[in-house]
Amino acid sequence: MLSGKKILVGVTGSIAAYKSAYFVRELIKLDAEVKVVMTEAACEFISPLTLSTLSKNPVAIEFIKDEETGEWQNHVDLGLWADLFIIAPTSANTLSKLVSGNADNLLIATYLSAKCPVWIAPAMDLDMFKHFSTRDNLEKLTHEGVNVIEPTSGELASGLDGKGRMEEPEVIADLINDFFIGDSLLIGKHIVITGGPTYEAIDPVRFIGNHSSGKTGVLLADECAKRGAKVTLITGPTNSQVIDKNIEVVQIKSAVEMKTAVEEIWNNCDIGIFSAAVADYRPKLAAEEKIKKSDKNLTIELVKNPDILLWAGEHKKADQYLVGFALETENEIENGFKKFEKKKLNLLVLNSLKDKGAGFGHDTNKVTFLKEDNKIVEFELKDKSAVMVDIINEIEVDLSQE
Ligand code: PMT
Repeated sequence: MLSGKKILVGVTGSIAAYKSAYFVRELIKLDAEVKVVMTEAACEFISPLTLSTLSKNPVAIEFIKDEETGEWQNHVDLGLWADLFIIAPTSANTLSKLVSGNADNLLIATYLSAKCPVWIAPAMDLDMFKHFSTRDNLEKLTHEGVNVIEPTSGELASGLDGKGRMEEPEVIADLINDFFIGDSLLIGKHIVITGGPTYEAIDPVRFIGNHSSGKTGVLLADECAKRGAKVTLITGPTNSQVIDKNIEVVQIKSAVEMKTAVEEIWNNCDIGIFSAAVADYRPKLAAEEKIKKSDKNLTIELVKNPDILLWAGEHKKADQYLVGFALETENEIENGFKKFEKKKLNLLVLNSLKDKGAGFGHDTNKVTFLKEDNKIVEFELKDKSAVMVDIINEIEVDLSQE
């Protein structure tokens, strides 16, 4: 579920440092990309080798990586790399440095450079935890937006019983997972997405296709998965790959194959997003052998392909939400609304080849949403991934009003 998320784990000098090995493992199991920064004191409790093996990345400890060459550890890059920085365990000493900004080690310097959310999981003996300076430091950090994962109560390394045990690694990993999923209305929803071009065979080596790169379908799939949805991406040939390994990717070539794949699951889906550039026609017969070149012209008879989105609209249940795309070159809005009505859509994403940087292949797109009651929402040219966020946000807003 944390696929594509970069988590920086800080480890400080506390007996609970042994738990960081389990914690890193949990994050890796959730598919996060993990890097570890340790204080020197932490290395007394757990070996950097353990954490680098589990995180699959070198562990950062000192400012200077290599005395001979003077190669340094760029704490600024490390801080900016992370989507979330969690210091687990956080010792009382580190806690006070986080407040004072005393950057006498790499971990604190990294903390001062980080722009992402920072979480801490304190671990110390019960009286240290109760001490006014600890409470004061925690209050200051909370006030500054640092998320404190309260320690739990139980037997402590000192033999005493009380509050001060670092929260269990699985619990913290789940909290991080929940944080990234947020309270999306897509959690648990099954979403089918079509993407890419279709290739309609003329013979074993030739086909009729189009310029769709498949990026849009892949980005849509990742955005939905990021928000906790169960995603099936049915895509034509593409070089783009989904990041989230939980996405079911069904690779097809032709429109007929795409329709079969959609028909199999549409009834069980909550949402359909049809971004594929499906060929409207296919050769009536695909030659079994390569067609030989001759001096004569060649005529290929084309027959109509099934309209997959139209089929999904006709079989749509009252609680299903359907999104279509339209790529137009003229009378965009008028033609778009015709498709919106005919295909029984909840949302139509219109893009025009007239707009520079929009449509096929580019990493950007400029879209207009067409909705019920002739509502039109126009957007600026944006990165395709930002366009997908707009689309999925729109779906979430509509679902919240149901
Ligand atoms: O893949 P990229 O390079 O990122 O490019 C993205 C895109 C330009 C392909 C995408 O943004 C887009 O516009 N997709 C729809 C292109 C298209 O075929 O539009 P259309 O107006 O012909 O089709 C309208 C809708 O019906 C689309 O949702 C399409 O998926 C669907 N359709 C069309 C024909 C058909 N036989 N079956 C369908 O399901």
